Amino acid sequence: MCNLCERVLSSVGRSVVTIACGASPFRTMRERMIPAAAGDVLEIGIGSGHNLDLYDRDRIRTLVGIDPDTKMLAMAGRRACDLGRNVRLMEASAEELPVETQSVDTVVASYVLCTIPDTDKALTEIRRVLRPRGRLIFLEHAAAQGKILPHVQRRMNAGWRLLAGGCNLVRDPLSKITNSGFGLDCLTERNFTGSMRFLGRHIAGIAVSDTQ
Ligand SMILES: C[S@@+](CC[C@H](N)C(=O)[O-])C[C@H]1O[C@@H](n2cnc3c(N)ncnc32)[C@H](O)[C@@H]1O
Repeated sequence: MCNLCERVLSSVGRSVVTIACGASPFRTMRERMIPAAAGDVLEIGIGSGHNLDLYDRDRIRTLVGIDPDTKMLAMAGRRACDLGRNVRLMEASAEELPVETQSVDTVVASYVLCTIPDTDKALTEIRRVLRPRGRLIFLEHAAAQGKILPHVQRRMNAGWRLLAGGCNLVRDPLSKITNSGFGLDCLTERNFTGSMRFLGRHIAGIAVSDTQ
């Protein structure tokens, strides 16, 4: 693909995910889950910072956000400034976290396991940086169940990935999490409805590393 096409697609992708991730089903799930973050918190793939206003200031000691996309980080930085929110933003990938081993109480992963190229490596890294009994708060969309929708998702996936910054419709993040040495503390699961039905299941929960 030519350089210009790549730049245009990246820019479209940023706009698509920033607008989509601000939609009300996402917001409702964020309002439910993000205030549970506590202590030293690391948000992976922070994007434009949709969670920043929802962290409970009284429960957070430090807040770090990483993302490999510097333009997304710049948006998160502006949002943090507007909110008067103290957050350290770093350009990094979840597969290689620039964070000390066992230094984090809560990792937040919202709508990001769909996009990270190597989720197994990212989950290994998340376990590495979490302190004993540290928690992973996750919010994700996941492959649909049933007969027709999974088929629709498979047909749409290649085009959607191009348009939406690499977001993958057919992943099963919950299995990835539970197969990576995490036990589930709580789980909410529902289907997206209306025009967002193609996103499949909407899952959110708290996972604890079960070897710690
Ligand atoms: C759909 S957006 C979600 C953004 C944000 N977490 C939210 O809740 O609105 C996915 C984000 O994952 C980021 N991303 C892509 N590859 C990544 C990786 N390897 N590690 C961490 N984040 C990544 C993208 O740059 C983008 O900001």
